[in-house]
Amino acid sequence: MAKITVIGSASMDLVVTAPKRPEAGETILGHSFKTVPGGKGANQAVAAARLGADVHMIGSVGDDAFGAEILGNLKNNNVHVDYVEPVTDTESGTAHITLADGDNSIIVVKGANDFVTPEYVEKAADVIKHSDIVLIQQEIPEETVEYVSGLCFESGVPLLLNPAPSRPISKEVIKKAAYLTPNELEASVLFEGIDMHTSLEKFPNKLLITEGKNGVRYHDGEKEKLVPSYKVEAVDTTGAGDTFNAAFAVALAEGKSMEQSIQFANRAASLSVTKFGAQGGMPTRAEVERSL
Ligand code: RIB
Repeated sequence: MAKITVIGSASMDLVVTAPKRPEAGETILGHSFKTVPGGKGANQAVAAARLGADVHMIGSVGDDAFGAEILGNLKNNNVHVDYVEPVTDTESGTAHITLADGDNSIIVVKGANDFVTPEYVEKAADVIKHSDIVLIQQEIPEETVEYVSGLCFESGVPLLLNPAPSRPISKEVIKKAAYLTPNELEASVLFEGIDMHTSLEKFPNKLLITEGKNGVRYHDGEKEKLVPSYKVEAVDTTGAGDTFNAAFAVALAEGKSMEQSIQFANRAASLSVTKFGAQGGMPTRAEVERSL
């Protein structure tokens, strides 16, 4: 069983569906409002667990109703939560999501996710060192990403850095990560002023640029490849990237090749968008295998 550790955010998604996005100063009537568990870290942990991995989550929630619900949801999805601590005097992280025109726009308020500091993560160093692969994203402090990249590099544990939401990253962190999975927008921030094809060639079998329904692009050391995604009727694309990252990590940890892992992850991500909510459509292992 693949041993995966996810270090990242665990939040509550506050989701409004609306006929369009309001202009500045405009008020419009929406269709619906729902709260569902989210946060890139928790999403990736849940997706990996549903795909059959043994998953530890390292994160932080507020000592509030959302925090209790987020923790309960992780446990219900068989994610180990020994290192997800409720903190007092800070609210749980929230993501304010508008679904309109077939896509989402998101504002994240980090809240308790800011407590996932290097000192906090250090307590789980043993779990990290005994993982087959570690996943991390950028809804937690930058210093933590730096610390984890060093720890993984020194311990010989591959680190998958999903650089979302985008922010510039040091050359050192880029060097120490085994895999980088930006979307096109994030890639343009990460490698500012550098053409995408040049970046892919510079980081063969390491940099994967996700292009939504187009597929995933990487360089295999000889040539650039686009692994196409699967066509589905999308209901909600929130969490598709998280499902891709988790499924890719599970497949790699199980010894699949780069291309096989991307195909597996594309399949999982395509299933994830067929239901509402970041985690609503995340498939089980059996569902992915049936669809393959
Ligand atoms: O990647 C999707 C996630 O991003 C949502 O669940 C939301 O929490 C935001 O952080």
